[in-house]
Amino acid sequence: MKVLLTGGAGFIGQHVLRELMTRGHDVRVLDSLRTDVHTAGAAAWSPPRGAELVTADVRDRAALDRALAGRDAVLHLAAKVGLGVDVGDLPDYAASNDLGTAELLAAMARAGVGRLTLASSMVVYGEGIGRCAEHGDVRPDPRTEKALAGGEFEPPCPVCGRAVSAALVDENAPLDPRNAYASSKVAQEFYAANWARVTGGSVAALRYHNVYGPGMPRNTPYAGVAAIFTSALRRGEAPKVFEDGRQRRDFVHVRDVAAATVLACERHAAGVRAFNVGSGTPRTVGDMAAALANALNGPRPVVTGAFRLGDVRHITADSSRLREELAWQPQVKFDDGMTELASA
Ligand code: UD1
Repeated sequence: MKVLLTGGAGFIGQHVLRELMTRGHDVRVLDSLRTDVHTAGAAAWSPPRGAELVTADVRDRAALDRALAGRDAVLHLAAKVGLGVDVGDLPDYAASNDLGTAELLAAMARAGVGRLTLASSMVVYGEGIGRCAEHGDVRPDPRTEKALAGGEFEPPCPVCGRAVSAALVDENAPLDPRNAYASSKVAQEFYAANWARVTGGSVAALRYHNVYGPGMPRNTPYAGVAAIFTSALRRGEAPKVFEDGRQRRDFVHVRDVAAATVLACERHAAGVRAFNVGSGTPRTVGDMAAALANALNGPRPVVTGAFRLGDVRHITADSSRLREELAWQPQVKFDDGMTELASA
């Protein structure tokens, strides 16, 4: 297929680009090479031989029209990522992610390109679903600053206040975005669904878990916890684990994520469908820190009790839809992936 890949110079984007090319697709990349992400400077990145690069922002209409000419499908990964801890971040999330997607969809309609694969996120589920012994499946409220400061990290049952256990969320779980980034991902999914309804186009929204692997952003505001811990260990410092270290995430390797994204582009050609993308094996952040400390032979992690107000406690999803409908199988085992990250 002739595809347009937005954000192809980013961490996940570069792996998707490689996967697309390996599978014989003709790839054009649109990337703004924004300097807060590409700290080495825009000139530091160029696409591999055989791929084309249009250096432009997704909000640039003329560039979009050029970039979409002759394309069969779009993979939309360009976005401002991170948590969005400050209200001052809201306009940039809305402009980069909401408006950027709206411009892209309008340009796709102009160009007659009807196939979209969208990078979404597990953060759209907020705190997800908790299971209360008495009240069954419940939706925990956001954790308060007071509770977190008092070391109460588990979100309680909203009915009786007792601790709930985290259940795996499937794609039908209610959307409950709890920070600026999450809100913009939900908005992107809704804009895309509106566009699909009007134009007859198809949308696969891939809700990525915590993606890690070679090329992870380090030392930027977009660094995920695995990169932060790796950098600390390389400096000879202990990883600082927030809360009590028992918060769960599903760490999924970037090559597995890239494979899922390309499969969705190739195989999902009708309607709107969301797919959770996780390894299926949740880990605690404390366990992940220990695995990296082992791999790098560094100091043991320190559990600090510090917290970030925008964080959710557990993010764990059921990714069976992706396995069943798109025949995806994660290939990289957690220990192997952490060892590779440590040595990258
Ligand atoms: C991550 C992604 C987000 C994505 C989501 C999907 C990043 C920066 N964020 O969010 O884009 O939508 O997964 O599931 O990649 N922590 C520490 N010590 C630190 C830093 C963080 O213990 O120094 C803890 C946090 O409190 C949190 C966990 O590690 O509990 C994960 O944090 P982070 O890597 O920032 O990712 P998410 O917030 O899960």
